[in-house]
Amino acid sequence: MAALHRVAHRGYCAVAPENTLPALVAGVLAGATFIEFDVRTTADGVPVVIHDRTVDRTTGSCGKVWELTLDEIRELDAGSWFSPAYAGLRIPRLTEVLDVLRPHAVGGHGVELLLEIKPPATLEQVKNIIGQVADAGLLDRTVVQSFDPAVLRLVEQAAPELRRGLLRDGFDAEQVAVARELGVGYCNPSMAAVLAAPGTVAALAEAGVAVMPWTANDSAIWPALVDAGVAGIISDRTGELTGWATARGTA
Ligand code: G3P
Ligand code: CA
Repeated sequence: MAALHRVAHRGYCAVAPENTLPALVAGVLAGATFIEFDVRTTADGVPVVIHDRTVDRTTGSCGKVWELTLDEIRELDAGSWFSPAYAGLRIPRLTEVLDVLRPHAVGGHGVELLLEIKPPATLEQVKNIIGQVADAGLLDRTVVQSFDPAVLRLVEQAAPELRRGLLRDGFDAEQVAVARELGVGYCNPSMAAVLAAPGTVAALAEAGVAVMPWTANDSAIWPALVDAGVAGIISDRTGELTGWATARGTA
């Protein structure tokens, strides 16, 4: 059986606060083959790793990421909302994330990075993000994904050689044509989209486009996703996913 990618969603976010350094490292330790995380840019132009448009949910403070400076963001506590054990944890800069993941990603057999750029993002911001990945020597270990096709076109403009993935809530009616037009190697829809239209996974695979659905946390669903032909599963439950894949010989 083909190996199944195990994607740690926002790091291993079942055991540590999402998109923080402990969660990202926990994903590696739990056997992920891809570490997924979300990148936004601060008011003063620094890429940071956070999912939401605002800092409200994960810091107890308030404000839009792109209206806050790095200094303002670095004052926030991104751990207490999850557990007192993580009190004082910071929202990481992208450079910190790359530094932490790099030793686990180089060498050909290590983990890969699934870097999501959250819109809005300008060409300058996209170039800055990709430049930091390049400076870390991780361009060939990274797939950049986005829900926004415009962002993916900026990524292609900035680094045509970089692998890209299109995120979708559901499959488009002409999903293969959409993926071909964008030139992406990955198309990552919700798991509900895969379960509703497993034939689209096969059609994309025939076109050379891999599918890794999100966010599949119920292990009862994993066999159906594999039967549909997915290349990987994006999950909060990295450890359980690794154990399951190992037991069925697809790790
Ligand atoms: O990688 C897929 C997944 O991260 C997309 O959804 O909202 O968790 O970024 P979201
Ligand atoms: Ca994401």
